[in-house]
Amino acid sequence: MKLWDFKANIYDRMRSVFPFGFVRQQEHRNITQLLADVPLVNARVLDVGTGTGDILPLIKGGSEIIAADASFKMLRQARKKQIGKLVVADCMNLAFRSRSFDVVTTIGLVEYQNDVTTLLFELARVTRPGGAVVMTFSQKRMFNRLRNLLGHRLSLFSMDEFLKLLNTTNLRVKKSHRSFIQYQIYCRKLYV
Ligand SMILES: C[S@@+](CC[C@H](N)C(=O)[O-])C[C@H]1O[C@@H](n2cnc3c(N)ncnc32)[C@H](O)[C@@H]1O
Repeated sequence: MKLWDFKANIYDRMRSVFPFGFVRQQEHRNITQLLADVPLVNARVLDVGTGTGDILPLIKGGSEIIAADASFKMLRQARKKQIGKLVVADCMNLAFRSRSFDVVTTIGLVEYQNDVTTLLFELARVTRPGGAVVMTFSQKRMFNRLRNLLGHRLSLFSMDEFLKLLNTTNLRVKKSHRSFIQYQIYCRKLYV
């Protein structure tokens, strides 16, 4: 978490300047479109890897929003947005009961995990049957490979590869969008 603690103070500023600002705008537009189809009224929502809480203002109508991240310093920035309850948590082992959320969101987290299968099972576990998961993952593109130079070892996927992984869980894609570096997907959890 040292890297994210280090980035916490500059994260929002960095994401607002060109070209990152342009990329963020594209991503937020796509996420907003996906969220428009998600039943959010009175929903209990969990945002995993919330960081500085950048997408929390896009989640409208939830009865309760819990924003979880492993970096305390990122959460300290999120606190300024005054949305939801903030919780320090590891996405690989979420301290929440199974099937306890109607909607789970996770934006910009998948690419930073080595064990994406475990992450997907954990997201599916905390989502109630019939519930929604909105998430992003990074595409296999030259630009993303260059991001590795910034100190990350990114897990990158084609849509086909990611669908194969998802199909090992009980999450199924309903809708997807693509932006410059990410795919944004809306999944529903099966009832079985
Ligand atoms: C690129 S930021 C995305 C933040 C935010 N979701 C957004 O859209 O701006 C990735 C976030 O994932 C968090 N993260 C990385 N590994 C994590 C883990 N194992 N458990 C929980 N959060 C983690 C980092 O602390 C960081 O805040």
